[in-house]
Amino acid sequence: MLKGKHIILGVTGSIAAYKSAVLCRLLVGAGAEVKVVMTSLAKQFITPLTMATLSKHPILVDFFNPENGEWNSHVSLGEWADLYLIAPATANTMAKMATGVADNLLLTTYLSARCPVAIAPAMDLDMYAHTATQRNMAQLRADGVHIIEPGSGELASGLVGKGRMAEPQDILKAVEALFSEKKKSLEGKRFLVTAGATIEPIDPVRYISNHSSGKMGYAIAEALVQRGAEVTLVSGRTALDKPEGVERVDVLSAEEMYEACVERFQQMDGAVMCAAVADYTPAVVADEKLKKSDSDMSIALKRTKDIAAALGAQKGSRVLVGFAMETQNERENAQSKLQRKNFDFIVLNSLRKEGAGFRGDTNIVTLIDAHEQVELPLMSKHDVAEHIVDKIETLL
Ligand code: PMT
Repeated sequence: MLKGKHIILGVTGSIAAYKSAVLCRLLVGAGAEVKVVMTSLAKQFITPLTMATLSKHPILVDFFNPENGEWNSHVSLGEWADLYLIAPATANTMAKMATGVADNLLLTTYLSARCPVAIAPAMDLDMYAHTATQRNMAQLRADGVHIIEPGSGELASGLVGKGRMAEPQDILKAVEALFSEKKKSLEGKRFLVTAGATIEPIDPVRYISNHSSGKMGYAIAEALVQRGAEVTLVSGRTALDKPEGVERVDVLSAEEMYEACVERFQQMDGAVMCAAVADYTPAVVADEKLKKSDSDMSIALKRTKDIAAALGAQKGSRVLVGFAMETQNERENAQSKLQRKNFDFIVLNSLRKEGAGFRGDTNIVTLIDAHEQVELPLMSKHDVAEHIVDKIETLL
C-alpha cells in the first residue's frame, strides 16, 4: 500500500515519542521511504540513533550541520514528501503550526510541504481539552491538516482521559486510508481545467496578455489527478512543466482556448475555468510589424468569446467551477459571474489582498455558491486546489 511513498516523520518532544520508533518501523515495513525530522526536545525522549537505524536515513534536527556547515534544506524535504506525518504532535507544536511560527526545522518543513500533512496529537487530558488547543486544532483542520485523533485511557501523568497518542498500528491505518482515499475518490471522472494567460496578437511582434503564471490552474489539475481523475489541461502561455499524468493542450489566444474547451466539454464530468482569458482582442491583426510614427496610435479591439459562459449554457449535470479576479466590489461581481456563467461555485480572489492572485505560490480565496460564502485564509495554491477539489467532490 505504501510502496514507494515518501514520508517525512516529524517527532516532537512528548513521552509518546517512544511510539514513533514502532511507527517508523511499520511505515518502512509497509514499503514507504521514511526520513525523520526531530525537534531538539524530542531527542531527550528517543535517540536519533534509534530513529536513524529504523528509518535508514540520518536524522534531521538542525537547520545546518555545525561540523561542516551543510544545510538541511526544508524546501527540498517538503518537495520530496508525499506525506508529512507529525507523530507525536505536542500542543506547543500544534500552536506554532496554527500560527505559522517557524523556529525549528520541523516547522519550516511544515510551511514548505506541498504534500498532505497529518498529525497525531499527544498530551495530557487538560491540555488537550483546553480552548486554546481546540482552537488551534480547528485552525489546522481548516488549513487542510488531517488530525489522527488521540485515544482515551491512562496517560503518562497517571490521569485518565483523552490525549494519548493513537497507537502506531492505527496511525499506519490512517496513513494508508489517506493515500487510498486520495487515490480513488475521483477515479473514472474526467475534468477539463483551463490555466495560464491568453495571448492576443497585435502584429507579428506585439501582443496583449496578462500576468497569469498558470500556477493556480496547474495546482488544480495536479490535485484532480492525484485523486484519480483524468485531466485535460487547456493551457495558455506559462513557463510551467506539464504535470505528470495530465493531458495538456497548448493554446495561445482566447479563440483557440474556446475551440479547445467547447470541443472537449461534452466528454467531461466537470470543468474548472482558472485561465485568465482576454476579454478583448485586436479587431485586425497586422501582417507586418506596425511602424511607429510621430502621432499616437489607437488599436481597435473586439470582444472575445466567453468560454465559461458557453460551457455554462451546455453544462447539464456537469460540475462547472469558475474564478473571479476582482479589484473592486469583489463579492457582488463574483456573484453576478456565478449566475451569468451558470457556475456551481466561483472562486473569488482579489488583487487587493497581499499574497493573493497572480504569479505567487499563495492565494487567498472565497468559495461562493448559491448558498454560502466560505473565506479561506492565506495558503499555498496547492492547498487552495485541495479545497476546491474537496468542494467539487461534494457536487458529483
Ligand atoms: O495563474 P496564476 O499566476 O497562478 O494566477 C491565478 C489567477 C489569478 C489567474 C486565477 O486565480 C484567476 O483568478 N483566474 C481567473 C482570472 C479571470 O480571468 O477572471 P475573470 O473574473 O476575468 O473571469 C471570470 C471567469 O470567466 C473565469 O473563470 C475565467 O476563466 C472565465 N472567462 C473569462 C473571460 C473569457 N473570455 N472566457 C472565460 O472563460
